[in-house]
Amino acid sequence: MTTHPTHESLLPPTGVRAPRFAAPTTDAPHVPLDGDWRFRLFPTADTGVDPGDPGEDWGTVPVPGHWQLAGAPDAWPHGRPAYTNVLYPIPVDPPRVPRDNPTGEYRRTVTVPDAWRDGGRVVLRFEGVDSWFEVAVNGRVLAQSHGSRLPTEVDVTDAVHAGENLLAVRVTQWSAQTYVEDQDQWWLSGIFRDVTLLHRPDDGIEHVTLHAAYDHTTGEGVLRVDVEPARPDALVEVPALGLRARPGEETRAPVEPWSAESPRLYDVVVRTPGETVTLRAGFRTVAVVDGVLTLNGAPLVLRGVNRHEFAPTDGRAVTRETMLADVLAMKRHHVNAVRTSHYPPHPHFLDLCDEHGLYVVDENDLETHGFELLGWRDNPTDDPRWEPLLVDRVTRMVRRDAHHPAVVMWSLGNEAGVGCNVAAMAAAVRTLDPTRPVHYEGDRTCEHADVYSRMYPTSQEVALIARGLEDPLPDAALDTRRRAMPFVLCEYAHAMGNGPGGLTGYLDLVDDHPRLAGGFVWEWFDHGIATRTPDGEPYYGYGGDFGEELHDGTFIADGLLLPDRTPSPGLLELAAAYAPVRVRAGAQPGTLELRNRYAFTSTAHARLVWTLVADGDVVAEGEVDRVLAPDERVEVRLADVLGDRLDDLLAATDPTTAVWWVLRAVPRDAGADVPAHLGLGAGQVLVRPPAAPPRATGSVVTVGGVRRVGPVELDATGRPVRIGGTAVRLARVDAWRAPTDNDRIRSWYDPVGDAEAWERAGLSRLHERVDDVADVAGAVVVTSRVAGAATDCGLRVRTTWRTVDERTADLVVELTPEGRWPGTVARLGWLLALEQPDAGDVRVDWTGLGPDESYADSRLAALAGRWQHTVDALQTRYTHPQENGARRGVTRAVLHLAGGPLTLTAGEVRVADRAVPGLELTARPWSDRALADARHPHELVPDGALWLHLDAVQHGLGSAACGPGVEPDAAARPTTATLQVRLQV
Ligand code: GAL
Repeated sequence: MTTHPTHESLLPPTGVRAPRFAAPTTDAPHVPLDGDWRFRLFPTADTGVDPGDPGEDWGTVPVPGHWQLAGAPDAWPHGRPAYTNVLYPIPVDPPRVPRDNPTGEYRRTVTVPDAWRDGGRVVLRFEGVDSWFEVAVNGRVLAQSHGSRLPTEVDVTDAVHAGENLLAVRVTQWSAQTYVEDQDQWWLSGIFRDVTLLHRPDDGIEHVTLHAAYDHTTGEGVLRVDVEPARPDALVEVPALGLRARPGEETRAPVEPWSAESPRLYDVVVRTPGETVTLRAGFRTVAVVDGVLTLNGAPLVLRGVNRHEFAPTDGRAVTRETMLADVLAMKRHHVNAVRTSHYPPHPHFLDLCDEHGLYVVDENDLETHGFELLGWRDNPTDDPRWEPLLVDRVTRMVRRDAHHPAVVMWSLGNEAGVGCNVAAMAAAVRTLDPTRPVHYEGDRTCEHADVYSRMYPTSQEVALIARGLEDPLPDAALDTRRRAMPFVLCEYAHAMGNGPGGLTGYLDLVDDHPRLAGGFVWEWFDHGIATRTPDGEPYYGYGGDFGEELHDGTFIADGLLLPDRTPSPGLLELAAAYAPVRVRAGAQPGTLELRNRYAFTSTAHARLVWTLVADGDVVAEGEVDRVLAPDERVEVRLADVLGDRLDDLLAATDPTTAVWWVLRAVPRDAGADVPAHLGLGAGQVLVRPPAAPPRATGSVVTVGGVRRVGPVELDATGRPVRIGGTAVRLARVDAWRAPTDNDRIRSWYDPVGDAEAWERAGLSRLHERVDDVADVAGAVVVTSRVAGAATDCGLRVRTTWRTVDERTADLVVELTPEGRWPGTVARLGWLLALEQPDAGDVRVDWTGLGPDESYADSRLAALAGRWQHTVDALQTRYTHPQENGARRGVTRAVLHLAGGPLTLTAGEVRVADRAVPGLELTARPWSDRALADARHPHELVPDGALWLHLDAVQHGLGSAACGPGVEPDAAARPTTATLQVRLQV
């Protein structure tokens, strides 16, 4: 019988110490081993290098770090990153891996202080090494370990001497572990988390189990601390509470409970004769009560995101600064929960979640998704030979992290199918920690889980689950059990590219149904890797940019934070959607409904500031003097706050402008100018839609075949060729957009994707046929048809030009679809390309809903006002270029063109029989075709024109790239549309 090399073994780590908690604050000495380590990469696991070889003449790589990313981003000397989502980049042949197996030999000198030889043990701790590694000290091989995102401790006492010692670590890229670490991320290897040399004193504390519950009926904290090894002389103290106890002893005291809203922590000091450690306890109790997930007796609603560890230059070797930046950005954007998809994070991240207040679903380092493509044949999750290894993984996670109050649930892994090892892992977790619910989305029947969890269902299905009306399971007992469980969306709203749309469809249900415990948007960060073109142009790479044999392209660019950490419009929308004070148009006209979404906190820290906004200007303002108790809802009426002033105020405004009532919850300690999405909540209601301006009565002057309509010149075919001092490159009706990732990918629930349907309908290649140009009662009326090559569906168009005065013209575009159309259309509107050498610099002053981009199903963050951008600043540079930058509800825009300003004012805008307050404006320095063809933002080059879209309607965003497409209420349909615009120079 042949034996496999150890990196292909199914054994749990060997030569390692028992798993214990993550480095707490201790007075035991320890030395960080971060820095440059000597390194050499070999093509196979059998490197032939003696562990006693110090590698004197090798190069170096930073530790922590991935060897593929060591060096300058355009010249990585040790391989390259590779991205696959589901696919294994090696033959599926568990537990064997190919001979070609990049293997890193690491070396460094470790200095053991003299004093450490007088007693105690010397221990090496690795927080994370990807994927399999062997540790040798002074030429002696001591241990083999794995579990890339889990800690390993190796007792090296007997192999070291005081002074300098040679540490050798051999790390293979592929191993048996690869089969259980198939998460959707870059394949990156090496010692990517901290390494520390510890002195473990005699009589020290190996492990602490901290139970810090909160009894919401008495207001008491309940504390019990167990110490390993068990010692009667250990002492536990909570100085702030004056508590002293022995290990195993339960004590109670009145406390301030811990929650994400108010993350109160208490130092817990544990002493033995040899060591003092300090942990930070938060008193809180997680429980499922009557099918509702609760924290400290109140329903626990998770307004979460999925977070992979990622930084564009460092991969998963994230710094403490990045971790803090993530936590603070989450808090700022009203995220209250994180699922650590799909592995335990760096332990410091959990310290930060404790301290700043984020609920955590801590997920085991397990994913075997690539087996799904094989019908789950030989899936490790269902193979008893893998049980010890998988149980070892959850054990190490729970032992490492259980002292964190932030952790509210354990997750057994992600997309690893089902099988006998799920039961074994769940049992192991419950034995170690019976206080937290167990989560595993793969366990659809919830035989082993405590919560019912799903990814990417439609909101219609969630609505059924919310009311306990989901489809029954075949097994009646399991069905009854699952129906009594809280429901979690472990992933929803896929933030790939421009999106997600449709958050409110889910969040309104969560607000109204206690069974729904909320969910986690996919995902926090866009994993673009910082790299350069051969010409030195920097950009963020995705799958396929690094010569991968197999890859999943742009699917890795699906985060709420763009790779340079710019919050995407999706994150601003999420902040508005998750805001603790929900402000919505009320059921009656002129009313707003306010809801305090905090579970434990009143709105006393918020001012409820309202403004009446007419034509983008504040014409009245005030404050609603109310404090909402946790979970309270109230309705406020404009008539109550303004009394009889309302009619006078409305009468004093231009009737062709929109009037909005906007209410914002602003932290008392912040200025009123805090951006809306960073306040505590905001919303608005339209008080008066804009009226169409009176019909223009001026006349048309025709000279030499050119008709002059105010400042607009039309050629003999009715095409505008000049507007004031600016030449027109193109003007016609449009129905297409550069597809978003959500347009490009077919949704889970539709037979064909939107972009494909539009392509088939010819919308990306429209041509115009002119039927007639006529002078009718002082107006020029152009009748035409716009349609795509190779199809017979098209739009009948009637364009009417009227002169208002010498500098002003009115345009009315009326569209009627004819022929067989797909169910949706990208947009219905007018495309105008103006010759403009520096189009990106053109300033746009506009009135509408802003300041940032918004779409029909992503518009909570856009509030009425007056805004200013350059055309460049209107662009969102998604990692994969696509439709972006639309501004909605635009009633006026002044474009400061080189040839003089051009003011566009919306008149009547109508979609089918629905009047729309304002148009949708998009302005770019390149065409939609160029945008659609670009693979990376740096490929987009201004083409000398300013490309403007003035739309009556544009399709929403949805989440089709993973999940449902655009909901019916946000879909643009092929229907009649009318767009009236006044152009003034
Ligand atoms: C889910 C998976 C995630 C990610 C997402 C798509 O199925 O759990 O890891 O792949 O799809 O981006």
